[in-house]
Amino acid sequence: MNKQNISIVILAAGKGSRMKSSKAKVLHAISGKPMLYHIIKASREISDDITVVIAHQKEAVKEQMQAFFDDINFVVQDAQNFPGTGGAMKNVTPKNEKVLVLNGDMPLITSNALQGFLDTQADIIMSIFDLEDPSGYGRVVIKNNQVQYIVEQKDANEEELQTTTVNAGIYAFSKAVIEKYIPLLSNDNAQEEYYLTDVISMAKKDGLSIAPLLVDEEHFKGVNSKKDLADSEVIMQERIKTKWMEAGVVMQLPSTIYIDESVTFEGECLIENGCRLTGETLIVNSHIKASSVIEDSVVKNSDVGPMAHLRPASHIEDTHIGNYVEVKKSSLKGVKAGHLSYLGDAQIEEGTNIGAGTITCNYDGIKKYKTIIGKNVFIGSDSQLVAPVTIEDDVIIAAGTTVTSGKVGSGNLAINRTKMALVKDYYYRFFGTK
Ligand code: UD1
Ligand code: MG
Repeated sequence: MNKQNISIVILAAGKGSRMKSSKAKVLHAISGKPMLYHIIKASREISDDITVVIAHQKEAVKEQMQAFFDDINFVVQDAQNFPGTGGAMKNVTPKNEKVLVLNGDMPLITSNALQGFLDTQADIIMSIFDLEDPSGYGRVVIKNNQVQYIVEQKDANEEELQTTTVNAGIYAFSKAVIEKYIPLLSNDNAQEEYYLTDVISMAKKDGLSIAPLLVDEEHFKGVNSKKDLADSEVIMQERIKTKWMEAGVVMQLPSTIYIDESVTFEGECLIENGCRLTGETLIVNSHIKASSVIEDSVVKNSDVGPMAHLRPASHIEDTHIGNYVEVKKSSLKGVKAGHLSYLGDAQIEEGTNIGAGTITCNYDGIKKYKTIIGKNVFIGSDSQLVAPVTIEDDVIIAAGTTVTSGKVGSGNLAINRTKMALVKDYYYRFFGTK
């Protein structure tokens, strides 16, 4: 999409008290990224001049956004003296003649959904939608087919509360409108805040043109509570999964699968029900079986699960990972680890078989240590590999062995079981005969 001659201002300075959280509202995550990230991402597709207004937890908001974007302007709201969405606009000086103002709590917005604001001509273009349950939103009062004013729920009378047409929270103003009306806002209302929405009635009185743009909740939903957050997550997940299914990924019961927006797939992949894939995970030509969790890992030409857990920095290639196997910060290439294992800080080479119940003892309570296992090694079931340890190529570790030697040389068998005793007829002596 071409960048337009438009400035974008995103209001992200509010506390978000209805979230009932110590974290600033705009930092709450949708599909693994802060809400504000999604809004900036959509904005950058249509504009080069983006200003984010911050105040509450301003350092955290700025820092987290700068980790993703290096070309955003930040403006600090004097929230003490000028609280509210109108107060947030006070220090903003946009470059372009047309200014799009977005609430920072609308993570479902896309650049396509903003196109209507770019195509319409008026002094003010404002987004509206009709809702069966309008609660929480500002009501838009329309008379003679013309927008008259917006009234916030807390200030609305009985009749106004019945209105089901609501303000979606995105506006396009001419720069002149901002310069003229923002300084004129007052805080004479229920919340004693400077409402950006009051610009509408003032402009209307002065005979300016106000164009309402009918939008859909799917893109313009505001997130004020944890319930709104969960509802928005469902919509975002639907989008992410549809995108990947269209790209060729097979998903079984997709409504039970969760995928972060940063996850990528290549080639032919099959994801079974109940899987959770997060962070910078890359899945290539692989089959992820039911209820597996994969975090910040790479899986290539492999099958994983059911009920496997790949924790961050795992690199799995040409490998079979079976049920109840946990892998962390390890690379496995051409390996079979079929059942019930913990493989942490390990490097395991081609042709090696990890028996059921094998555990890398990578932690001594203070530090973590590496386990290196070479090619064509056979690790018998229920073995513990006490790290740091290197097991060279072509080694057999007998079932039940605890490897404590630090190194097992090529061609060796390691075995340290205690000798089994057979006590004749002990059963009958203990339990008696029938
Ligand atoms: C706002 C609108 C309401 C609309 C709804 C749509 C106003 C007065 N009301 O209400 O008409 O229906 O959005 O979702 O604008 N913010 C600041 N500084 C502040 C206060 C808020 O930057 O002092 C930011 C918040 O971080 C948030 C955005 O502005 O991203 C909207 O604030 P919020 O408190 O969610 O407004 P709503 O009550 O939802
Ligand atoms: Mg809101």
